[in-house]
Amino acid sequence: MFAHNVIITILILIINILIQSKAIYVLQKQYLDLLRHDFKHNLSSLFLIEPYFLKQIFLSKNFQKFQTDAIYEWDEMMWRYNLPFDFKWNHWLTVGIFSDELSNLMMPKNFIEIFKITGNNGIYNKSNQTFIPHHIFYQKKSNETVLNIHLVVFFRIENFLWIGSALKTNNINHTQIMSLNYFGKYEQIFDPFKLKLIYLSDIFILIPDDISHFLSQLFTSRYLHCPPERNDQWLNKYNIKEEPSVVEYFRCSMLGLKGLLREMRMEFWLKAGSLLGWARQCNVIPYTEDSDFGTWAKYAKKIGETELTKEFSEHSPKHSIELLFQFGRAHNSIEYSFTLMNHSDNWKIDLFFVYHNGTHFTTSLHFPTRGQWAKLFYPPYELCSVVLFGYKLLAPCNYEDVLSIEYGPNWHEPVIEWDWVESSQNLGPWMVSPLRGFFKSFQ
Ligand SMILES: *[C@@H]1O[C@H](CO)[C@@H](O)[C@H](O)[C@H]1NC(C)=O
Ligand SMILES: *[C@@H]1O[C@H](CO)[C@@H](O)[C@H](O)[C@H]1NC(C)=O
Ligand SMILES: *[C@@H]1O[C@H](CO)[C@@H](O)[C@H](O)[C@H]1NC(C)=O
Ligand SMILES: *[C@@H]1O[C@H](CO)[C@@H](O)[C@H](O)[C@H]1NC(C)=O
Ligand SMILES: *[C@@H]1O[C@H](CO)[C@@H](O)[C@H](O)[C@H]1NC(C)=O
Ligand SMILES: *[C@@H]1O[C@H](CO)[C@@H](O)[C@H](O)[C@H]1NC(C)=O
Ligand SMILES: *[C@@H]1O[C@H](CO)[C@@H](O)[C@H](O)[C@H]1NC(C)=O
Repeated sequence: MFAHNVIITILILIINILIQSKAIYVLQKQYLDLLRHDFKHNLSSLFLIEPYFLKQIFLSKNFQKFQTDAIYEWDEMMWRYNLPFDFKWNHWLTVGIFSDELSNLMMPKNFIEIFKITGNNGIYNKSNQTFIPHHIFYQKKSNETVLNIHLVVFFRIENFLWIGSALKTNNINHTQIMSLNYFGKYEQIFDPFKLKLIYLSDIFILIPDDISHFLSQLFTSRYLHCPPERNDQWLNKYNIKEEPSVVEYFRCSMLGLKGLLREMRMEFWLKAGSLLGWARQCNVIPYTEDSDFGTWAKYAKKIGETELTKEFSEHSPKHSIELLFQFGRAHNSIEYSFTLMNHSDNWKIDLFFVYHNGTHFTTSLHFPTRGQWAKLFYPPYELCSVVLFGYKLLAPCNYEDVLSIEYGPNWHEPVIEWDWVESSQNLGPWMVSPLRGFFKSFQ
């Protein structure tokens, strides 16, 4: 059953972990008692996702010793992902469960289910004709104390995890249930994770295996839908043919960059033509010749272009992509291009670095053969989550504004002869590129 393989692979680890760790004291005593007494035998399917506690576990020294993913300190991690240094805690213990484990769930008898949210369009279980719950809220009253549990159901869909919104229903006091700040305010999606068993005081607790990657997604996890049938509708409307090789190149690019930038702990998202393809077709533009992604310029400013270039060259082959070009400088104009290792075509993966000038986001466009570069301007945006080819990616939440500025109000319509230099609507004046170190090729 479920927990077995987890237990076997990490048994050695847990023996060493946390025996006298600080983390023992960080779970408030009453919740620790709760886990100890009431969940002792029934923990196998529940995992802890309360951000406040995950942070404490991450910070605990004994945990870090055995943690391969803790490559940065907590504050560095928070800076990289634009997260608040502290997570709020309002006496709701948030735990997760995978939907396929729900039928094994046995809550302790002294826990009262206060309410359950299935959502009007909830996921339907055909075999017993009921909606599978998305969120379940429990309460335990004993003496003077009230203990609350918010159970979040994670559905495994394609190559991501989905959780439902809890706000569709009225019988819920949003102020009271602070945990909804993190889970259930809207539909959310996450990268899949494995569970890791850790030993806290005298109990075992399951947690997501890569705490910082899990937490890094909290504020960008709002799910923007794109109905897959939109692809055929768009292709038919404009009589455009699908191009399987482009789909394959794009898929490899997206997975390569996803792996590389997760390893380097950098946030990235769909940009320009790749964002357009998702918005118009929930797919990739069939006649495109590259893929476009954005990331924050702050990484380049802090790391510096020499070191960043070195890290990209070093780590990208592990993810089947390799560095092609470096354009511009970290302080105002950096951009990188990669290519796919296993394909001979001239397919490019462009990674634009997004600067904030106070009122606008900007990225740069380079024209090395003319010795020129220019800035592209965008409205500022926050990031949301989208699905492309079954994987989770990020995109600007206000993507329609972003696309209108770049491609004009008719961005829904195809422009086969698109040319960056001639066609971009948000291009600033051309500037002369400095001669030294402004363009590097790694081919
Ligand atoms: C659906 O219902 C069947 C029959 O009760 C049950 O065995 C199964 O676990 C349910 N699936 C989920 C995801 O709850
Ligand atoms: C259907 O399955 C769910 C979860 O597996 C269970 O909680 C529920 O009680 C079942 N409903 C019926 C009518 O059997
Ligand atoms: C845990 O689950 C078992 C069934 O697997 C049940 O008999 C037992 O009462 C549960 N424990 C508690 C504390 O509720
Ligand atoms: C509740 O109060 C009684 C009497 O004071 C005490 O014996 C018991 O341990 C308390 N239970 C909890 C869960 O604190
Ligand atoms: C919701 O909870 C808050 C905080 O506990 C409380 O002040 C407020 O009165 C509650 N609202 C309702 C409608 O119960
Ligand atoms: C690409 O080629 C390398 C080396 O030949 C191989 O290790 C890797 O698995 C290939 N990747 C893909 C996505 O085919
Ligand atoms: C940022 O860019 C916008 C758009 O071109 C421009 O209007 C604004 O003046 C710039 N702000 C600063 C501080 O340079």
